[in-house]
Amino acid sequence: MTDLLKGKVAIVTGAGSGMGRQISELFVSEGAKVMLADINPDGLKETADQIDPSGNSTSSVICNVAKEADIVNMVKETIDIYSKIDVLVNNAGIVDNIKTVENMTDDMWDRVLAINLTGPFKASREVIKYMKDQKDGGNIINMASVGGLFGSRGGAAYTATKHGIIGLTKNIAATYGIYHNIRANAIAPGNIATNIQKTINDPDELGMKAMSAVGGMTAPVGKPEQIARVALFLASDQSNFINGAVITADGGWTSM
Ligand SMILES: NC(=O)c1ccc[n+]([C@@H]2O[C@H](COP(=O)([O-])OP(=O)(O)OC[C@H]3O[C@@H](n4cnc5c(N)ncnc54)[C@H](O)[C@@H]3O)[C@@H](O)[C@H]2O)c1
Repeated sequence: MTDLLKGKVAIVTGAGSGMGRQISELFVSEGAKVMLADINPDGLKETADQIDPSGNSTSSVICNVAKEADIVNMVKETIDIYSKIDVLVNNAGIVDNIKTVENMTDDMWDRVLAINLTGPFKASREVIKYMKDQKDGGNIINMASVGGLFGSRGGAAYTATKHGIIGLTKNIAATYGIYHNIRANAIAPGNIATNIQKTINDPDELGMKAMSAVGGMTAPVGKPEQIARVALFLASDQSNFINGAVITADGGWTSM
């Protein structure tokens, strides 16, 4: 432990599983206070029990990032308890069974956009209200994907949202970086072993064909902690000249 985040307060969405859990754990071990947020109460409890049994370093809030009222409440609870927000990690996200445009239902399109893109926009809007007036500004980390950089690492909705969140990241960096000391960066993980894979239960034939054509089935498999370390770097002052960047962490998959 190097206390890289000593004194910092972070919100992590999707903290009940996978990368959100690992990011929360690493942030706590580096001295941060973390507001754990997730739609799934069981996952949230597991995370809290596992990473902070004493309860001194974390608080938990049920938050569906597709609901604005939940986002407002998540941010308000954080301010009420810790009086500031240094870091927001927009990590919660879902996949879309690699569905092509033709096979994408309106319902799935709307749900993926609401969770993967509109949620991070609204959470950013809510925290920026506070970060703007903080002496040390603020720091937003968005969980994109290699699906945000290329066309066949997910279905149509997933690909659109992950490209969108990279655009959102750059816009926040460009507008709030210089004028309000708020940084925004994105991480683009490749294939990481988490529970999200289990939700690909009806994969699209053409979508899978396109993904296989770029080595999707043999892509290196990463661990959530390997992504958590990237998030730690971005959350810490070690990266204080990095703003508006996208860091790919895919074991070299997209270098081929
Ligand atoms: N695993 C991968 O291969 C991979 C690759 C690139 C990007 N990502 C991105 O990483 C992020 C985290 O995914 P993961 O792989 O850790 O998956 P995961 O399924 O293990 O964890 C996702 C968490 O988000 C929560 N969540 C889902 N919908 C929510 C909502 N509406 N509101 C609040 N919380 C919600 C889930 O309950 C879960 O705890 C996602 O944005 C995903 O798109 C994952």
